[in-house]
This record gives sequence, C-alpha cells and structure tokens, in this order.
Amino acid sequence: MHIQHVIGARPNFMKVAPVMGALSAYAAVHQTLVHTGQHYDVNMSDVFFQQLGLPEPDANLGVGSGSHAEQTAQVMLRFEDVVLTRQPDLVLVYGDVNSTLAVSLVCAKLGISTGHVEAGLRAFDRTMPEEINRVLTDQLADLLFTPSSDGDENLMREGIDPQKVHLVGNVMIDTLIRLLPSAMSTWRQSQWREWEGRPYLLTTLHRPSNVDDPEMLQGLLNTFGEISREIPVIFPLHPRTRQRFDSAAYTARFPQVHLAQPLGYLEFLALQRFATAVITDSGGVQEETTYLGIPCLTVRNNTERPVTVTVGTNTLIGQDMRRLLQEVGRVLFGGGKRGQIPPLWDGRAGERIAAVIVRELG
Ligand code: UD1
Ligand code: UDP
Repeated sequence: MHIQHVIGARPNFMKVAPVMGALSAYAAVHQTLVHTGQHYDVNMSDVFFQQLGLPEPDANLGVGSGSHAEQTAQVMLRFEDVVLTRQPDLVLVYGDVNSTLAVSLVCAKLGISTGHVEAGLRAFDRTMPEEINRVLTDQLADLLFTPSSDGDENLMREGIDPQKVHLVGNVMIDTLIRLLPSAMSTWRQSQWREWEGRPYLLTTLHRPSNVDDPEMLQGLLNTFGEISREIPVIFPLHPRTRQRFDSAAYTARFPQVHLAQPLGYLEFLALQRFATAVITDSGGVQEETTYLGIPCLTVRNNTERPVTVTVGTNTLIGQDMRRLLQEVGRVLFGGGKRGQIPPLWDGRAGERIAAVIVRELG
C-alpha cells in the first residue's frame, strides 16, 4: 500500500509528522514524501524537518514563490510527473495552502485517490485564498479527515458523502503534545530563555488582509508600538510581512517590540507557552494557544476554527485597533479569556487517520 504525502508550506509540516509516524506502525504501508517547495527558506522549511523528525523528501518540486496562478500551475505541472512515475494508492494533502489544491486537482484528473487532512474548515469568506483551496480540495477528496464536528457539518451542507468523512481530531495538537517537552528543553538553551517568568506578548502576522494593505499594516505596527510601552512584544516576522516595512527604522522607534526572524517550531511553541497572550492571524496559532490555555487575540473578522472561540481561549477582534488595545488591556488587568481543550484534541488524531486509511484501502 503506497501512500504519498504532499506538503509545501510551514503549517503543513506539523500536520504531516503525526500521520507519517502513525502509518509507519503498519508493515503493509509504504510511504513517500513530496515537498512542493512553496516555502523554501531554511527557517520556513528545513528547520521543521529537523525539529519534527521528518524524513528527507523523496522529491522536492522546487516551485518557490509566485502569483497564485503561477504557484498553483507550477505545482500541478511538476507534481504530475512525480505522481505518474510513482503511482501511489493514495495521496494525502494537508491544510489549505496553494500546494494542497494544486495536488488535489492533478490527482482528481488522473483518477488517483486523495485524502484531505484538516477537511471541512470554513471561514465563509471567499476573499481568503485559503477558503477557495479548502472548498475545492474537499470537493475532490475521497477521504476527508476533520479536526472538529463543525467541519463535518460544513461538509454535509456542501453535499459531501458522509461515508467519506471521518472526525479524527487535530493533528497540529498531536505534534504539540509530542514536542512540548523538547520545546521546554530547547528553550532553556536558547536566547529566548531570559523571557521565562517575564510578562510579554507574542505576535505573528501574515494574512494578506493584514500585511498587504499598507494602511492596515501601519495601524498594526503603531498599535504594537503603543502596547510595548506597557508590556514587551516579541514579533517573529513571516517573510511576507518582513518585506512590507523598514524593520530597522521600526526597531529604532519602538525598541520594546522585539522583531525576529521566523522561529523554529520548538522555540515558537515555548514562547507561546510562556506568553501573557498572543496576537495573531495564523490558523495554527489559534489552535495551539487554545490547547495551551493562553489567551489569543485574532486580528481577523472571521475564523475557520470556531471551536477555538466557542471552547478555547481565542477572541476575534476584527481589524479595529481600538478594540485590540481594549482587549490587550483586558488581558493585562483581568488575565484574559480562559477555555477548555476541544474534544479529540488529544494527541491521537494521526493514529485515527492511519487506522481509517488502512481499513479503507486494505
Ligand atoms: C502561505 C499560504 C497561507 C499560509 C502561509 C503559512 C497560500 C495561498 N498561502 O502564505 O495559507 O497560512 O503560507 O505561512 O498558499 N517567502 C520567502 N521565503 C519562503 C516563502 C515565502 O521569502 O520560504 C516570501 C516570498 O516573497 C513570497 C511571500 O513570502 O512571495 C509569500 O509566500 P507564499 O507561499 O506565496 O504565501 P504565504 O503568505 O507564505
Ligand atoms: N510557527 C513557527 N515559527 C514562527 C511562527 C509560527 O514555527 O515563527 C508555527 C506555529 O507554532 C504553528 C505554525 O507555524 O505550528 C503555523 O503556521 P503559519 O502561521 O505559518 O500558518 P497558518 O497556520 O496560518 O496557515
């Protein structure tokens, strides 16, 4: 039974690791790993292979950056050769990035079965490129693995055959649970250890709606500057965000906003664990803060992960900077939102996915 995993961008790496790990327990399963190369910097890709214990990819398509059409088309062209040569029984795709949709399209046209890990999430906002990727990937998939029951409801509404849908829990959390102890020890040997026991906010931003609009980005940067007069802000910069402003001038103006390169998974996880609160627009970070019980202020009008709001520690604050300041004040003076861990976010989602695959293909 040949299962081919295809990954391409930072959040895919945390998702594939537990599924590969769980499938490796089955002697009849042969696995291959394809990296599309959508993300390629050492700190956006290689570091995760090393820290998560992923094997060298069997193929790297090296597609790199480009417009949506260019990137999607390059993945399709280059992946078609690989999948035709290797003829897997099932291709697994992860999350909602351009690589996910491109690979799903190629497989659907060739009659090769696909499974989608993290199916069913919906923000109900078609201006997000990820929403298009989610909806279409789910339409094409043969097996759909959902992290929470809202995913199942969304898929039923879109007419997906319920037999294909499997509620398995959250693979991001499998990786978090496995690596939290290593994150703690890595942190204590890193430059970040000085922050343990000190209050700070951690922030990440990379959504086009926040960072590609100069006025919006400027508003956010000024607000972080204002917040840093009360509490230091640690801000690892996604490459999309780094390109959009002059970080040297910003640091000179706001020295209590600590800009950094994108961090390794272990360092970033430890920083989340000890943060007073996290401000983000990342999907994965909304989930990780919910698991860790850290208040999360999400600078978006919607989320495809509503369980992080209804059950977890996430608050949607929209794109209103006055509201952001108010909510930070609430965290600093009231401790911030508390929550619970959603059902099936228990570290065993990968095992459940592997069991379904072996049963369905076996
Ligand atoms: C992509 C995903 C997004 C996901 C994010 C995770 C799509 C449509 N978007 O957004 O869903 O949340 O990854 O991080 O698939 N760049 C580098 N080095 C790299 C990678 C990118 O410098 O290793 C720069 C390039 O200038 C590139 C820009 O970042 O143009 C954006 O990269 P891209 O992969 O197109 O989108 P992301 O914003 O990373
Ligand atoms: N992350 C990381 N280093 C960073 C910022 C984020 O390792 O500097 C991790 C984070 O802990 C989570 C994942 O990257 O596991 C989320 O990916 P990202 O925010 O790029 O994408 P999204 O989840 O929004 O699609």
